[in-house]
Amino acid sequence: MKTQVLYATMTGHSKKIAHAIAKDLDTKAHDLKDDPIIPNCDLLLIVSGIYSGEAKPELLNYVKNLSPTLIKKVALITSSTRNSAQGSLRQTLVDTGINVEPEEYLCQGGFLFKAMGHPNKDEIEGAVTFAQKLVKEPVLS
Ligand SMILES: Cc1cc2nc3c(=O)[nH]c(=O)nc-3n(C[C@H](O)[C@H](O)[C@H](O)COP(=O)(O)O)c2cc1C
Repeated sequence: MKTQVLYATMTGHSKKIAHAIAKDLDTKAHDLKDDPIIPNCDLLLIVSGIYSGEAKPELLNYVKNLSPTLIKKVALITSSTRNSAQGSLRQTLVDTGINVEPEEYLCQGGFLFKAMGHPNKDEIEGAVTFAQKLVKEPVLS
């Protein structure tokens, strides 16, 4: 399965998670800041935090331009102090016609005095295990 990883970060947690996954799957972690061109793939893992209840606006804009014919499926990996799931990000992907994995990997990500020390080693490993499970699933036609 051809897999790519994209991350959008403010404080570095998503970068850490994305690089751990990319290393394990032997693929590339693309930083949203670079406005990357994602190669055709069966699975795109999007790693991001939540800021004031939402994904970064730049990420929401970026995913509007993803092509469902080039990206077969997207799965979300999200850290936030409240273990929240992505709302607008998932909806924007669905509106764009992208097939989005229903399961989302959620973990804590500390900010100021809340959830300090997260994501920890186990949570990062959990994200890697989630990705490993998805890449074993059959490729969508
Ligand atoms: C400006 C800002 C706003 C945040 N707002 C929320 C929020 O509304 N809800 C929440 O659960 N976490 C919130 N957080 C915590 C982040 O989602 C969490 O620290 C996440 O791990 C950050 O990922 P990153 O390091 O990749 O940017 C916020 C963090 C920042 C920096």
